[in-house]
Amino acid sequence: MKIAILPGDGIGPEIMAEAVKVLNVLDLDFETETALVGGAAYEAHGHPLPEATLNLAKAADAVLFGAVGDWKYDKLERSLRPEQAILGLRKHLGLFANFRPAICYEQLTHASSLKPELVAGLDILIIRELTGDIYFGQPRGRRVAVDGHFPGAEEAFDTMRYSRPEIERIAHVAFQAARKRSKKVTSVDKANVLETFQFWKDVVTEVHAQYPDVELDHMYVDNAAMQLVKAPKAFDVVVTGNMFGDILSDEAAMLTGSIGMLPSASLDKANKGLYEPSHGSAPDIAGKGVANPLATILSAAMMLRFSLNQPQAADRIESAVKAVLSAGLRTGDIWSEGTRKVGTREMGDAVVAASITGKTITTKT
Ligand code: IPM
Ligand code: MG
Repeated sequence: MKIAILPGDGIGPEIMAEAVKVLNVLDLDFETETALVGGAAYEAHGHPLPEATLNLAKAADAVLFGAVGDWKYDKLERSLRPEQAILGLRKHLGLFANFRPAICYEQLTHASSLKPELVAGLDILIIRELTGDIYFGQPRGRRVAVDGHFPGAEEAFDTMRYSRPEIERIAHVAFQAARKRSKKVTSVDKANVLETFQFWKDVVTEVHAQYPDVELDHMYVDNAAMQLVKAPKAFDVVVTGNMFGDILSDEAAMLTGSIGMLPSASLDKANKGLYEPSHGSAPDIAGKGVANPLATILSAAMMLRFSLNQPQAADRIESAVKAVLSAGLRTGDIWSEGTRKVGTREMGDAVVAASITGKTITTKT
């Protein structure tokens, strides 16, 4: 097994170091190769996704990705900005299915901005289509308007589009995922306004005919945003397009108390995948040793489960994370009264220790 390690920018290298430490104590047979990506790659090679990095990602069995981006690159032309690295990897690796679980850990119920009873036990899965929609739709650009409200004025435009096979394949992914959970899918659209999403709704409904054991409902995206904060536990699997999924997955992540806890997987049709924390590069805390490494560590667990066929090793990591939380260790983002604040490295060391012994380590608060 070969794992491509792409730490990226900001807190990326710090949190990745902890995840690699954890992987290394599991007695697995794998090799890793590290490459630059994002702003770090731009600084060194003049491009956020150098060919060598892309080739490594293609050749590897799985990719573990940290985070990319920094405000200092905001003025670069779009094709050179760090975000293009992740968009390019998604596109060139065909990673169309993005799994973003939003789980509220029992130990962190009180870290949520919602009332504890609304989020206790929350476990929902957002499945976001990741290579289509307005993110990638052509044409796009700037031009002088020939019609619209201000003919002759400068304008910019993007194209929202989905083809039938793109919708069918993500719908299958969602229904199959639901079969392993509570057999309920909510498809989120904007069919009341957008042609693209009327089509989305029609195609998802057609595919559903092959999954009579799974319940399907449809919700407009504005209502879904509202229901997510009103009664999040009413959802189980949510399937939606690239743009709506981007927005709703951040909202869902925050319900759980900390985006610093949540892993994600982006898979191709053969379950090869890229695994990354749901949070960003947090340049404001980079290099300070305070970032929460758990989302990256849990992403490594997801990688072992989905792409590398090592479910027991994945279980070991996930149990170790629960053990350190139960022992009261918290990074700043999830800290609360009565728990012990630790830095990135100490958190990683604790997960390593718990992964080796399989036991809960105790600590004084
Ligand atoms: C995400 C991020 C990316 C996206 C950015 C960094 C391009 O927000 O993974 O959700 O919009 O998809
Ligand atoms: Mg996002």
